[in-house]
Amino acid sequence: MKTAIVYVSIHHGNTKKVVQAMGEEMGADLFDLMAEKSPDLSGYALIGFASGVFFNSFHETMKGYLEKLSLPPGQKFFLAATCGAAYMNYTKKTRKLLEARGGRCLGSFQCRGFDTFGPFGKIGGIAKGRPNGKDLDKARAFARNILTQAEGI
Ligand SMILES: Cc1cc2nc3c(=O)[nH]c(=O)nc-3n(C[C@H](O)[C@H](O)[C@H](O)COP(=O)(O)O)c2cc1C
Repeated sequence: MKTAIVYVSIHHGNTKKVVQAMGEEMGADLFDLMAEKSPDLSGYALIGFASGVFFNSFHETMKGYLEKLSLPPGQKFFLAATCGAAYMNYTKKTRKLLEARGGRCLGSFQCRGFDTFGPFGKIGGIAKGRPNGKDLDKARAFARNILTQAEGI
């Protein structure tokens, strides 16, 4: 299945690690939104959108991009986020936004990522070493599951 993952990963490359693990599993094309502002997503049956969490939300660049993005009706998508402190599901708002546009969400993945923002930097950061091997194994399993679901629809 032709799959794309569009991502923003600017703090420590945490989200990129997750996206690469998923991408390998899915044979997906990866698009770094900071390098390519408007990737051509036509023809992709399944699209992932992934971002680090910045102030409780996907990165501004990803938010701006998604607000303008028009999706084919029923476009299958999934979401992924990495965050310093996983005390809430940070993908919910984005899911709602894309579902309101007619997209069909197959699932969301979230794990912690090394975070040195603000005061955390002074103590050497939090979530050191994350995403770790276990996180990436979970990301791969998630990707396999999403692909199986997408192929069954
Ligand atoms: C400016 C800034 C704001 C952040 N805000 C949050 C936040 O609200 N909640 C959270 O859990 N992590 C927050 N983080 C931590 C990042 O979400 C985390 O390190 C993430 O893995 C970064 O992904 P990246 O390396 O792919 O960019 C923030 C980091 C920065 C630099």
